[in-house]
Amino acid sequence: MDAAEPSRLSEQSTFVVATPRTSIPEEAALTALTRWVRRLLSRRMPTIGHGSATGARLRASDRRVKIILTGATGFVGGEVLRQLLVHAEVTGVTALTRRPLGVTHPKLTSVIHEDFAAYSERLLASLADHGGCIWTLGGKASDFDSPTEYERVTHGFTVALARGMAPRAAFSFCYLSGMGADPSESGRFPWERMTRHLKGRTERDLAALSAEHPRFASYAFRPGGILPANGSALVQRLLSPWVVRVDVLGAAMIEVAVRGHHRRTIPNGEIKTIAGGASDYRL
Ligand SMILES: NC(=O)c1ccc[n+]([C@@H]2O[C@H](COP(=O)([O-])OP(=O)(O)OC[C@H]3O[C@@H](n4cnc5c(N)ncnc54)[C@H](OP(=O)(O)O)[C@@H]3O)[C@@H](O)[C@H]2O)c1
Repeated sequence: MDAAEPSRLSEQSTFVVATPRTSIPEEAALTALTRWVRRLLSRRMPTIGHGSATGARLRASDRRVKIILTGATGFVGGEVLRQLLVHAEVTGVTALTRRPLGVTHPKLTSVIHEDFAAYSERLLASLADHGGCIWTLGGKASDFDSPTEYERVTHGFTVALARGMAPRAAFSFCYLSGMGADPSESGRFPWERMTRHLKGRTERDLAALSAEHPRFASYAFRPGGILPANGSALVQRLLSPWVVRVDVLGAAMIEVAVRGHHRRTIPNGEIKTIAGGASDYRL
């Protein structure tokens, strides 16, 4: 439970006590009032150090944010982009891609970036007013030509942008890792071992950057299999502990990029919980 929960619960109990004494129109008015008060209270929640992953709601009084997105041409990134563009609290999206995105929108700035291992001062300066990054660029080791290339993309690319942003401003870096990521890089289980080790190393180095720069918060999302939004409900139910829908994952990543989260590592089940409570999304 995050630190916002107690106040949510106390608001709910106030509402329950009042309900039996009201008529139906009054009830509707009370519901609307309660919703409005909840929104107001959540906006006024105290701001805590941005780099802390133990705080609940970061930048709570400053919920207008620009987000950097990588991987927007991919399966997850495409869904995140779709949601970012309609999200009320996201005022701008800068998508860094190696090929044209083919999407135009008033909120979208599309930047063709050929080498994700390097970020010029000019590019970093143009990103300085962004409050977070959703990093969905990547894949699993078996998708890449060589271990060296996989390491360059998975670890090198991700940490290069994070290093560029970390000293600049309050920032939430939401890294799309995967279930089984192994920051100790010691696991011997052979299945996708390189993927799990390199994603783990990336998580570890992002966490080290957070420790070094208190206003830089890194979060590692560890979904299992990611299912299409319109996939079989039966499969989702049967495999629930090991899968998440792409729209659910996208909503959770945006929620954390905008508001932060009390935990740095976010496993499959918690992704669903976060999305369920997201302001612009209901499961
Ligand atoms: N799909 C799953 O079930 C699943 C489960 C757990 C974790 N994940 C992780 O989630 C992340 C996204 O997965 P996804 O399914 O959305 O993958 P995807 O559809 O293959 O998209 C990958 C994205 O990364 C970009 N990319 C890959 N290599 C690049 C490079 N060398 N330079 C620049 N851009 C590059 C791709 O750009 P181009 O379009 O230009 O190629 C694309 O935008 C991956 O890290 C994956 O391991 C996925």
